[in-house]
Amino acid sequence: MSAAADRRESLKDVYRQARACVACPLHETRNTVVFGSGNADADLMFVGEAPGANEDLQGMPFVGQAGKLLERLLGEVGIARDEVFIANTVKCRPPGNRDPYPHEIDACRHFLYSQIELIEPVVICTLGNFATKLLRGEPDGISRVHGQAEVRAIGPRTVRLYPLYHPAAALYTPSTLEMLRADFLRIPELLRLGPPAGEEPAGEGPAGVEPAGEEPDGPPQPEGGQLGLF
Ligand code: URA
Repeated sequence: MSAAADRRESLKDVYRQARACVACPLHETRNTVVFGSGNADADLMFVGEAPGANEDLQGMPFVGQAGKLLERLLGEVGIARDEVFIANTVKCRPPGNRDPYPHEIDACRHFLYSQIELIEPVVICTLGNFATKLLRGEPDGISRVHGQAEVRAIGPRTVRLYPLYHPAAALYTPSTLEMLRADFLRIPELLRLGPPAGEEPAGEGPAGVEPAGEEPDGPPQPEGGQLGLF
């Protein structure tokens, strides 16, 4: 099997573990586990916050208005959605679209770290506060750090981390949209830089990142969910 095919198979294994996950109370109210979708060999990965109602029903991330805006902004810099991989900080919808609680993020983050380890992106754009704080391992809010790319170690990977405003925050606030659009313009340049080589990572990165390994399987879940892998 080619390296790319191996990577897809390993991602499918992680997906199966996520579909069976009962590690936090969100499993009680979800319709589907929204694992993430896109190109398993992507150089560019986006990490949002949590699935909303549409995502929970369809099993795919960013299928609502925020997703349409994300796709439009990608198009404006010449990148198609199916070239990137899109995931979230937590894989199950918090009821009523409330913010994810810290213990839910903690219970779920190993899935995101496994995705990053397997996909090996060059650039990770964190969308909004939750993904940014998790992957930087620091408390700074998005308005302070958006648009500032930095080299960060996430488990065994060193990536270019690029915090961006969440597209949902830009939907009804023109000034946020303009900042997000301006930040998007730098994505092609970051991709051209390629993987950080010999560049010292900033900060400590996220705490408690362990290499992808076997996760305990919960009982099989009689539910849907999708893995749109290209
Ligand atoms: N917002 C997110 O953060 N993730 C989604 O999947 C959809 C909306």
